[in-house]
Amino acid sequence: MSLETKKILLGISGGIAAYKTPELVRRLRERGADVQIILTHSANEFVTETSLQAVSGKPIRSNIWDKEAEAAMGHIELARWADVILIAPATAEMLSRLASGSAGDLLTTVCLASEAEVVVAPAMNRVMWSNPAVQANRKLLEDRGVQILGPDSGSQACGEEGAGRMLDPQQIAEKVMAPKLTSVSSLVLRGKTVMITAGPTREPLDPVRYITNRSSGKMGYAMAVAARDAGANVILVSGPVSLVPPTGVKVVNIESADDLLAAAHAEVAETDIFIAAAAVADYRPSVRENTKIKKSADEITLSMVKTPDVLATISRLAERPFCVGFAAETDNVKDYALGKLTKKRLDMIVANRVGENLGFDCDDNAAVVYWRGGEQAFPMASKAQLADDLMQLVTERYKLRNSEEVIAANSVARD
Ligand code: PMT
Repeated sequence: MSLETKKILLGISGGIAAYKTPELVRRLRERGADVQIILTHSANEFVTETSLQAVSGKPIRSNIWDKEAEAAMGHIELARWADVILIAPATAEMLSRLASGSAGDLLTTVCLASEAEVVVAPAMNRVMWSNPAVQANRKLLEDRGVQILGPDSGSQACGEEGAGRMLDPQQIAEKVMAPKLTSVSSLVLRGKTVMITAGPTREPLDPVRYITNRSSGKMGYAMAVAARDAGANVILVSGPVSLVPPTGVKVVNIESADDLLAAAHAEVAETDIFIAAAAVADYRPSVRENTKIKKSADEITLSMVKTPDVLATISRLAERPFCVGFAAETDNVKDYALGKLTKKRLDMIVANRVGENLGFDCDDNAAVVYWRGGEQAFPMASKAQLADDLMQLVTERYKLRNSEEVIAANSVARD
């Protein structure tokens, strides 16, 4: 997304991820943004004014008591200048100060004095991030319309593994002025529940073996994060994956297609939008042996039976949610996807080509979305970016379907 002519006020607070901010400034400026930086006192410990000044091409502001700048009410000038205030990294302390409306330094004062969109990219240790106080601050800020980007999961500077890493500079630059900031998504999805299925299923043969597939869960998890960031309550029904569950999302873990069926139906009454990104096994062994199958015969034959089609059972409910399927195809992608759209009675289907290093178990993906009377292609992008774009489209189509239903109901009432 181009940031041409956008004025971004980048606030840097004092976390180790501050060392990535010169890179972030470069990514923002590459997209055409004009970047002005405020460095907090603690951030100065992690990154120097000299390097930030070199990459932004502008003097760095850090002191609210700067006599020269404040002679002309510098903090108000900055507050009016910005189209968006991006705080990256945002520490636990920064989230707390923003939530409480504190104005103890230049950055927080500018935030209070500005009408610009505020976007924060949290970064902290995983235990800090999951602390109820931090989560309460996150929620409060989100409810006030602050956009939260990330955090990401993975290995942390402290040596631990989990959710709390700042998103990559590239991802932040991609998302900071994404259309959803100004779009209907957050208004449409606030208070709505989105259920997403993700990952593979495991169909047991005996107590130690199962049949499964190559799904990593990355696409479904990215959809869950996108739906959460767009303001929805999210239920993520997940097959066995090695991903860290996203925060602020209800996760229900399942193993087999039968488990998935039960879990999805247990939650469906509350669900407004159902998105099926899981790679559910189409067949399972007809018998699950109670003891380990012994190696004796030279050849064995496996008898398989069809699993329940979870998505089709949900879309056929009398009180059905808006249903979005995924189609993973190696060939004839469009024809097969359109067939599934009709046969499973879906509102939309996301068709992705799969194969070696394609679709399954990789970080990027491309898709074409089909619905009755329309289609839209999404080029190769990170699964996080694709999920944001897909969520935007899902929201638009969901909103349209609801308004069509209201018109239909009104005309029936008039007749
Ligand atoms: O997990 P990743 O490694 O990130 O990979 C992502 C992905 C390729 C798995 C994902 O993008 C994807 O395409 N998911 C759907 C995979 C699939 O099972 O497609 P399908 O064409 O076989 O099924 C069509 C739809 O019916 C899917 O929405 C599926 O969830 C659903 N289904 C299928 C069978 C079944 N028994 N029950 C179902 O609900």
